Amino acid sequence: MPIRKAVLPVAGFGTRVLPATKVVPKEMLPVVDRPAIQYVVDEALAAGIEHIVFVTGRNKGAIEDYFDHSYELEEALKAKNKTAILEDVEKARLPAGAASFVRQQSAQGLGHAIWCARDIVGSEPFAVLLPDVLVKAAPSCLAQMVSAYDQVGGNIVAVDAVPEDRVSSYGVIAPKSRDGRLIEMSGMVEKPAQADAPSNLKITGRYILQPEIFDLLEDQDPGAGGEIQLTDSMARLMESQSFHAYEYEGQDYDCGSKIGYFDAVLAYALANDEIGEEAKALVRAAAS
Ligand code: G1P
Repeated sequence: MPIRKAVLPVAGFGTRVLPATKVVPKEMLPVVDRPAIQYVVDEALAAGIEHIVFVTGRNKGAIEDYFDHSYELEEALKAKNKTAILEDVEKARLPAGAASFVRQQSAQGLGHAIWCARDIVGSEPFAVLLPDVLVKAAPSCLAQMVSAYDQVGGNIVAVDAVPEDRVSSYGVIAPKSRDGRLIEMSGMVEKPAQADAPSNLKITGRYILQPEIFDLLEDQDPGAGGEIQLTDSMARLMESQSFHAYEYEGQDYDCGSKIGYFDAVLAYALANDEIGEEAKALVRAAAS
């Protein structure tokens, strides 16, 4: 069955970049000329996703408005013949009926957020993209995973190697064997102490999951940080279903932290057709 739906959990407070996120959702912070979340939605669409399920919360209305039709703005741009800008604004709109919004009413963890999408996803395999994480890759990270899924099916998580002193910030997999970029696993653990980590391969925030994950999330006990962890339910799902890790080709940026966000802005500015060359000159001047 093709992967048609993607769940994007966007209910988090953005504590690590306060006070910037006091009134602006962290997902709406700009990376060059578009909000971070647009890169993630574009990644999903580039992988063939047809419907985006946003798991949202209070004070996140700007996200819903952003992907809607902005009648006054579009008419004003049309009247002034600002065709290029108009095209960009139109591209940010999701097609009619292609987005759903469901609220996570209390912050109980990533696993709980994904579980909130169960009725909209229904009984088909789906993708999860964490919008804190931007992955700069061609083809897009999720598109690479969908190609792998077409070969092996089941469940897939994106992984990438990190320095060993960083593993306790992530979900980490226990690899068993490898076939190119596809890795068989014997387990996974959320935010292990460095000494207990089964490897330095961290889960990057891109997932392809079978709908049975929802039954496991429903009765999942709280884990790391006292939260209902997606990783814990995935570790249980692995006992009954095929589950691979996929070491994607690309670079990820954690926009939920100050330095990760800066790193993303820098990387996307340097790669931008319009401002890339000037940005390079500015970086050189600032470093000298
Ligand atoms: C979440 C996941 C974790 C994953 C990480 C990727 O953690 O629980 O397994 O490695 O995203 O960014 P969080 O960053 O929400 O604490």
